[in-house]
Parts: sequence; structure tokens; C-alpha cells
Amino acid sequence: MDKVNDEGTVDVPPPIHLEKSIVLVGLMGAGKTTIGRRLAKRLGVSFIDADSEIEKAAGCSIKDIFECYGEAAFREGERRVICRLMAGPPQVVATGGGAFMDAETRRRVKESGVSVWLKADIKTLVARVSKRDTRPLLSTGDPEAILRDLAEKRNPFYAEADIHVESRDGPHETVVEAVVEALKKRRAA
Ligand code: S3P
Repeated sequence: MDKVNDEGTVDVPPPIHLEKSIVLVGLMGAGKTTIGRRLAKRLGVSFIDADSEIEKAAGCSIKDIFECYGEAAFREGERRVICRLMAGPPQVVATGGGAFMDAETRRRVKESGVSVWLKADIKTLVARVSKRDTRPLLSTGDPEAILRDLAEKRNPFYAEADIHVESRDGPHETVVEAVVEALKKRRAA
């Protein structure tokens, strides 16, 4: 029987047992953190945001890391953090949009994780990223043009992910369930 928890809602047993971490990849605004947090709850595992881990390790924001040390230093920290996370227990990991461009990161993720590309069209991405000004790559020009350019360069790498899921607007749970179903199907294959 399902148990009612302290919040008065029902605890549904996790639909699958994770053997590897689920690693969310995709452009800025794809919903990696939002979906990742809910997906982790659904799967009964922890959620880790790689960007937050980098900020914790550096003791400052990503914006400040870019400004004070440059993008190359950020990428190095990003590679190190993801490598550490991939060596840890199975969990849901949200990566920053550029992380999967790094060959070493891709190799580690392929080795010890299941990657999920959250895809969204440019208009959706632009609408979502416009809510915050924390992303240094988007502050240098027109966010739509920058995202279009990044999509062209990065999509071939994201396409290497094990699972591709549309991250449409609407209830987050729909996207979460699409990921869960894709994970189940992959396991059954
Ligand atoms: C970046 C995406 C950001 C963050 C940094 C660089 C990128 O993360 O890692 O600003 O290169 O696309 P989100 O994708 O979570 O916004």
C-alpha cells in the first residue's frame, strides 16, 4: 500500500532502481535543473546541480568565475566536478549547457551514467533564460542569436546522449514522466 507522507501526499514507490547516474544535458533554458530536481524526487535519489557544485568549490558565482578567471578556468572546474560526481553513487545530475562539449566529460558520462538530452526550441529557450541574468554567455549580445549559434554548434554533441526528450512548456511532470518512460524502455531493450 502507498504511504501518506508528512505533506499529506502519497509516497509512490520509485518506478525504477538506478544503477547509474542520470545526467541531464542540453542548452541553457532546457530545464535541466527544474526537471532534474523533480526527476530525482520521482526516482527517490538525490539531485545535484553541477553548476552549484562549481560555485560552492569556487566560493563565488559562475558570473564571477567567468569575469575573474575566464571561461577556460570555469570549464576546467566543470570537468573536475562532473568527474567527481560520476564517481559517486547513482543520482540525478544537471550539467551546465557547455559541459557535454568536453570530450573527457562525455567519456566519463558514457562510462558511468545515462545521459538525457532535454530539447526545446529556440523561442522556448529564449523565454526561459530571459527570467534571469546569471548566464555570462548570454550577456554579450542578443540571447536569441547566441542560443541559435550555440544550438548549431552543440546539438551534434547533445545528440550523442543516450536518451532524447522534448522539454516542452506545460506541466513539468509530463517531461519527468517522458524521461522515466524512456529509461524504462531502455532498460527493457
Ligand atoms: C553555460 C550554461 C550554464 C552555465 C554557464 C555556461 C553554457 O548552465 O554552466 O553559464 O556554456 O551553456 P545552464 O545550462 O544550467 O544555464
